[in-house]
Amino acid sequence: MARLSNEEINAIAKKTSIVDIIGSYLSLEKKGKNYFGICPFHDDHTPSMSVNEEKGIYTCFVCHKTGNVFNFVQEYENISFLEAVKEVANKTGIELNIEFQTTSKYDKYYNALDLASKFYQNHLKSKEGKKARAYLEERGLSEVIIEEFEIGYAPSEFDTITKLLLNKSFDEELLINAGISGRGNSLYDLFRNRITFPIHNAQGKSVGFSARIFDNSNDAKYINTKETPVFKKGEILFNYHRAQNEAKRKKVLIIVEGQMDAIRVYASGIKNVVATMGTALTNDHVKLLKRLNVKVVLCMDNDKAGEQATIQNGELLSKNEIDLGILRIEDAKDPDEYILKHKKEAFLDAVANAITFFDFKMNYLKKDKNLEKVDDVSLYINQVIKELNKTNDDVLINLTINKLSEEYGVSKNVLYDKVIKVESTPKISITKFQKKKQNKDEMCCALMLYYMMNDTKYIEFYEQEISFVPMERYEKIANELLAFFLKYNYINIADFITYEIESDHYEDVLDIIDRNANIELSDAEFVGLIERMKNLNAEKKIEELKQQLKLASDINEKSKIIDEIANMKKRMCKE
Ligand code: UTP
Ligand code: MN
Repeated sequence: MARLSNEEINAIAKKTSIVDIIGSYLSLEKKGKNYFGICPFHDDHTPSMSVNEEKGIYTCFVCHKTGNVFNFVQEYENISFLEAVKEVANKTGIELNIEFQTTSKYDKYYNALDLASKFYQNHLKSKEGKKARAYLEERGLSEVIIEEFEIGYAPSEFDTITKLLLNKSFDEELLINAGISGRGNSLYDLFRNRITFPIHNAQGKSVGFSARIFDNSNDAKYINTKETPVFKKGEILFNYHRAQNEAKRKKVLIIVEGQMDAIRVYASGIKNVVATMGTALTNDHVKLLKRLNVKVVLCMDNDKAGEQATIQNGELLSKNEIDLGILRIEDAKDPDEYILKHKKEAFLDAVANAITFFDFKMNYLKKDKNLEKVDDVSLYINQVIKELNKTNDDVLINLTINKLSEEYGVSKNVLYDKVIKVESTPKISITKFQKKKQNKDEMCCALMLYYMMNDTKYIEFYEQEISFVPMERYEKIANELLAFFLKYNYINIADFITYEIESDHYEDVLDIIDRNANIELSDAEFVGLIERMKNLNAEKKIEELKQQLKLASDINEKSKIIDEIANMKKRMCKE
């Protein structure tokens, strides 16, 4: 991976607002100097994460995750530090002139899958691909779309692609691990006589295939690449790499169930669409979605399974505070059929008129109930109350209660009582995250270093007055602070984090910041700390002298040591 210098990284940090970036992942509220939000790194129920714009850092006072803007994105998206830098630059609108050579240990997988995909694509154009072409044509997929989605045809012979790739010197293990070949008596192609849709990860690399039958055989309609090191269904959204920019522009992303739905919506000119790979959305999908910072419109198939998927996916998305709309199509079984039938504009209208997840659930709960009957009304109201207890939105609670009260003649007080009565979400136990105890001296050293991270005057003062910390790991950090200052002639807590990223005591640096992030700096306190450091040093020296005294045999030597100890004690400041 190409290296960016610390200076370049710091320049990006300087142009970036940490509040804006973190605010694109979670909602932040200003309280005093800091901003607060629900910490995404533990199961948080009250805003425990504070973000300080001035210092450029965030810190959670429950799980103690701390760092600068890059650390946040790295941790949140589970990517490398440099990828996080790239992501932040991208979000801030800074062009990075370096090419990230993403040499990855998976390059061989990507290359093999890419080659397979190219082969399938070419094969679709061959004589053998005629029936597959006819099928695609019948489904109304244009040449342009076939080309853009790199749709191909896997031949029906036993091992065409396997042989080809083996000839290109990919080894057998790789072909099996990448989900291209299976092993019987010999290696064989896993996809045979099927239309192939290559699947890409968020970076646009080939990671697998979904392959469809196109005759009336009884085989499974689609077979997908099995889970491999590069293809994990729970992390992939079909078409994400093509859709992401358009989604950011339109501030909406549409999620459909099947890749044919995604292709149809895209082909109609609505390019901000992705498909799940026949699975429920996962936390990893949520990360991909949060990265876009856009509204999500869920448009699952028009059947029972699609309804269930809407509930399950909707719960996950709303729990993660994603702005969510629900589109239930009618008069067609899926978005593909809907667009063929009603055209693009009707679908766009439907997207624009997507209802809230709460309204969807209200409608859903009414289904299969006879609301003329008291029992059903009671059941319905109780179910709605249960939903209300999942939200903190007072306005929504109020409106809903008014509506229920009017529609079903139940007193508002009774309804309010129920909303409050349901037990609130359990408070997180702080002990789970309690940090190891520090003694007072350690705390002083850490605090002194924290001062030094905040203002060069404290570094200078430290250098002139003591230039020593009586604890080895803290001593090293003090030296690095000094080195940073000498090199750059300034100090900034967020930049120092970046500077320390490869250091052995990086964790200690974060720990120091976390412990002290909310204190107010005062010169007087710092002077006190310096005095204390001096005393600690003196105490340490005295301890050493006492040991020497024990070992000394010569009377002159003994009295010399005793004098020295007395001197040390005299020099020690009064605390
Ligand atoms: P659908 O059957 O809804 O897909 O399955 P679709 O796009 O409408 O398919 P067409 O229109 O008949 O071509 C949704 C998704 O579930 C997975 C696929 O990823 C598919 O896109 N699936 C479906 C399978 O993995 N295997 C199957 O046999 C069927
Ligand atoms: Mn379909």
